[in-house]
Amino acid sequence: MRIGSLTLASPVVLAPMAGVTNVAFRTLCRELERSQVGTVSGLYVCEMVTARALVERHPVTMHMTTFAPDESPRSLQLYTVDPATTYTAAKMIADEDLADHIDMNFGCPVPKVTRHGGGAALPFKRRLFGQIVAAAVRATESAGIPVTVKFRIGIDDDHHTHLDAGRIAESEGAAAVALHARTAAQRYSGSADWEQIARLKEHVKTIPVLGNGDIFDASDALTMMATTGCDGVVIGRGCLGRPWLFAELSAAFTGRPAPTPPTLGEVADIIRRHAKLLTAHFGEDKGMRDLRKHIAWYLHGFPAGSELRRALALVTTLDDLDILLGRLDPDVPFPPAATGPRGRQGSPSRVVLPDGWLSDRDDCTVPTKADMMHSGG
Ligand SMILES: Cc1cc2nc3c(=O)[nH]c(=O)nc-3n(C[C@H](O)[C@H](O)[C@H](O)COP(=O)(O)O)c2cc1C
Repeated sequence: MRIGSLTLASPVVLAPMAGVTNVAFRTLCRELERSQVGTVSGLYVCEMVTARALVERHPVTMHMTTFAPDESPRSLQLYTVDPATTYTAAKMIADEDLADHIDMNFGCPVPKVTRHGGGAALPFKRRLFGQIVAAAVRATESAGIPVTVKFRIGIDDDHHTHLDAGRIAESEGAAAVALHARTAAQRYSGSADWEQIARLKEHVKTIPVLGNGDIFDASDALTMMATTGCDGVVIGRGCLGRPWLFAELSAAFTGRPAPTPPTLGEVADIIRRHAKLLTAHFGEDKGMRDLRKHIAWYLHGFPAGSELRRALALVTTLDDLDILLGRLDPDVPFPPAATGPRGRQGSPSRVVLPDGWLSDRDDCTVPTKADMMHSGG
């Protein structure tokens, strides 16, 4: 799959996930793909940073833009609401060689963001949306950095925006679009509506359309591509606690035999490696705190015992982690209970919007207060 100047050997993208897809997690996914199928073939997107915080060189944000020395392509996701800040941030990325690809996040359903017109609320303002995409493209085109745009179906079932957003992104020079096939009102509940991916694919003719939502194993990815005609797949929750999923996807797309899923002992070794990578990025204290949520995902469906799970949920050092993981039975094979959906689900709810937001789709007023730090998509 080609995304502007980038060529990917398999059409697989790690979805940007705030608090998850930092350099440690991406390195782990890439290492597992390389060791199990002999290649790194997809695109691994960094967790989101806000354009404003980047421009202001917020130290936490700058740290979030860390890439591994051998990471290629380096893919950064920007959250933004304002064409001017977008231009400055994208120009900074190009001038300072901070990344090789920029993805733009227009999918965040969090009330504190949509309330101010940001995230998934923004594509409804189609002219403003177009100006933001155009600003990023203009700032990066001479550096050959492709800009892709990720959005949802719309605000809710009465306000679908994905077809307009796809057409506008395409005409403003985006190199690909990705659809999380839910509305913002759905949050992560119910099922992704893959039919809307097929509709977007019919609508957007000249750039790749990537499908996203509810891919939990390699066969889901192949089914999505076959049934929607999309050009590639974006994987979020399916890889939580399963960073080897990209090896399985890569094997499926390149016709190699599927790697055998790990035993509990092998999962414990992957957790140890993840812990080392997080410690290198954050230091041991923050790294181990960050690891705890991953441990719960890693052990999902495995027999581990509630007392050991509790101890692991409080682990503070690499040494203690090693001892606790040593108490797991290494020979337990990967259980059927560890397959299928995982991660956020939640329930649908009304999308909170600024007063009068739906009255004028062509209003280009930049939302205020919509680019504070937040997480999610
Ligand atoms: C923990 C978490 C954090 C997320 N953060 C972001 C984000 O920062 N930017 C974004 O565009 N999407 C974000 N998302 C949404 C995912 O990228 C993806 O669109 C969504 O999870 C649907 O795909 P899935 O069904 O494969 O999980 C996040 C999702 C999760 C579960």
